[in-house]
Amino acid sequence: MAQTGFSPNPMKLPPFFEEDRLAVDAHLEKLLPAESVQPPSIHTAMRYSVFAGGKRIRPILCLETARIFGTDVSAALYPGCAIEFIHTYSLIHDDLPALDNDDLRRGKPTSHKKFGEATAILAGDALLTQAFETIAATPVSAERRVAMVTEIATAAGTVKGMVGGQVADLEAEGKPVSPEMLEYIHRSKTAALIRASITAGALCAGAPAEDVARLRRFGETIGWAFQVTDDILDVEESSAALGKTAGKDIAQQKATYPAVYGLERSHQIAKELADKGIAELGAYGERANRLRTIAEFLVLRRA
Ligand code: FPP
Ligand code: MG
Repeated sequence: MAQTGFSPNPMKLPPFFEEDRLAVDAHLEKLLPAESVQPPSIHTAMRYSVFAGGKRIRPILCLETARIFGTDVSAALYPGCAIEFIHTYSLIHDDLPALDNDDLRRGKPTSHKKFGEATAILAGDALLTQAFETIAATPVSAERRVAMVTEIATAAGTVKGMVGGQVADLEAEGKPVSPEMLEYIHRSKTAALIRASITAGALCAGAPAEDVARLRRFGETIGWAFQVTDDILDVEESSAALGKTAGKDIAQQKATYPAVYGLERSHQIAKELADKGIAELGAYGERANRLRTIAEFLVLRRA
């Protein structure tokens, strides 16, 4: 954080967060079929979870990464929203009885509680499919679109991606977990998609390969810090604050940083990872101030 002498108060979010969030919400609204489109039940369920009140961190990261390389970042709304669709599908499926079995998400009843399991499974499937339709519609060259598809599909997949991490997370339940496995779970189930939010923004804006590689390291590291913070919040915050059931990780004997390292060391690890990620932004000077602000927010947030 010392790189540019830049030191915002991350708990007082600057106006660009809200501006980006509104632009993302308007674009999500445009991309999703109306509830009335046949068959209405699936479109109602898709919209219910997408508009349930998420922070929109991933699309905001995508937009703000694109902004490093140009002023018109409207094309980056497409990969940003695509990743928000994938993220939302992952939450719907994560909450299913066969997985983490939860009743509350984003402060509302989970999809399967509201619509039943069959519709919730299909709403997740539909959002994942909608994501790739959305990337394909990005108004940039075919070469950039293919690069984004590869980046995002890999991050959501089984090889060090979200599905692989989710499998390992489920299989680690109730068992002693090694620090290496804990790192694998966090980097795969959460950091990979956050990393892709950043690299997709860079690829969409036509960033040179060297920048994409640097931003990939930034994204991977802050994504990892994000999940360590998520583990900490599950212990320290209430369900009302989080909008999801707090204290579940201990109840389900999940592989978490507080379980393996304790709370105090987990806070230090989150901070060290965030600092390490932010150090990658040194090359961009003040152009990366917004990304620095978001990275700080990711570990200091309370929800
Ligand atoms: C909270 O994000 C979500 C995470 C910390 C990711 C956890 C990972 C999974 C649920 C993977 C599940 C994977 C499959 C394949 C089912 P957030 O705080 O940004 O949530 P918000 O969008 O509601 O603000
Ligand atoms: Mg889970």
